[in-house]
Amino acid sequence: MTARLLVLASGTGSLLQAVLDSPLARYVVAVGSDNPEAGALERAAEVGIEAFCVIPSEFPSRRHWDQALQRAIGAYAPTLVISAGFMRILGPELVQEYRNRIINTHPALLPAFPGAHAVPDALRYGVKVTGCTVHFVDEGVDTGTIIAQEALAIEPNETEEHLHERIKVVERAMLVDVVTSLIGEQP
Ligand code: GAR
Repeated sequence: MTARLLVLASGTGSLLQAVLDSPLARYVVAVGSDNPEAGALERAAEVGIEAFCVIPSEFPSRRHWDQALQRAIGAYAPTLVISAGFMRILGPELVQEYRNRIINTHPALLPAFPGAHAVPDALRYGVKVTGCTVHFVDEGVDTGTIIAQEALAIEPNETEEHLHERIKVVERAMLVDVVTSLIGEQP
């Protein structure tokens, strides 16, 4: 079956860009966001990839938003959903529907520093080594089966911005490698 990749992103979308700059680009069927200002939406538009935005504040409850996101994703019949800087927890029904077909990239060595503030959390704790993780998404917060990890030594007095950018350089390559191996040989 030909891969159909759907990328979810909330922010600047540099991880999305790594996918779009790789041979995986031809399998990307859509980009989804929760943030109408997301740079990821502009990046999709620049290369003519369909994009959608499901904005939480437009729904009466978390459950309604979950259902709308699930419908929007389902419309593209993806074979793999890639959470690439998507800063929301995915609802349990969505996770159930795409069990082992949603991956997330995280800027820390899980299970250390889960959640939305992994880079400042690692710096505040004072660890000397951190890194990034690509894992399958389950119902927990960054708790699913780990697929790949890479470590980085933290430099003395390193700022959050500097460290996060160094992590993202590694993340971009790791994400492309993981997706390439998950989708296997393609027609
Ligand atoms: C990446 O570092 C990604 O791991 C992180 O957001 C960044 C997105 O970068 N995601 C999380 O922290 C999820 N908990 P980008 O907008 O440049 O692609």
